[in-house]
Amino acid sequence: MNHKKPIPQVVPSLLSADFTRLKDCIRIVEKAGAQRLHLDVMDGHFVPNITIGPFIIEAIRRTTTLHLETHLMITNADRFLKQFVDAGSDTVIIHVESDRALHTDLRAIKELGAKAGLVLNPQTEFEKVEPYLDEIDHLLVMTVNPGFGGQQMIVGALEKVRRAQVWQERYGFLIEVDGGVNQETIALAASAGADLLVAGYAVFGTGRPGHALRSLNWQIK
Ligand code: DX5
Ligand code: ZN
Repeated sequence: MNHKKPIPQVVPSLLSADFTRLKDCIRIVEKAGAQRLHLDVMDGHFVPNITIGPFIIEAIRRTTTLHLETHLMITNADRFLKQFVDAGSDTVIIHVESDRALHTDLRAIKELGAKAGLVLNPQTEFEKVEPYLDEIDHLLVMTVNPGFGGQQMIVGALEKVRRAQVWQERYGFLIEVDGGVNQETIALAASAGADLLVAGYAVFGTGRPGHALRSLNWQIK
């Protein structure tokens, strides 16, 4: 089956938001046209940083109807899938590098009622995700090493976005790019074939997040 590509859009990542005024930050990007929010969960073990968990996601869920995509950068993700879906995640994305029975985890996410995504790091070869492409809703290609916002894009990783498009035509999953998307790099990432472009620092690291989001979106439409 030949799946059509959706219109590309920027997905704000709350990682660089001001957490003392999270609700305001969400309102600003909602008004600027965001349809989804990217939530970065880190455990200080799988990546060298710690961020938010289900408790905060549940609070975010109460303040917005936007599609919440939860990017899990944690060890033993399988133990927490239910908590993250129950907290209100619409999509749950797990790393292919985790030493796990991924078919089981992807199936578990879908059985819990969420969309299932797989993510691969910049150094990870595309072949690693190939066995799963017929069962995912979402493929996330990291263009920085996960752990921190505001890093520079590793442009070479975009090659995997180009490769993913061939499979996307057959299976219809969304392709997203995560890391270093900004006013200078967004056109490049979109032209590689990304449908969704995560932007953290380039939105919330600026003094005017609404304006920044509109201007990023304007570049790819
Ligand atoms: C990094 C996270 C990203 C991060 C991107 O580990 O997965 O989602 O928020 O931040 P920027 O857009 O600042 O590179
Ligand atoms: Zn992320």
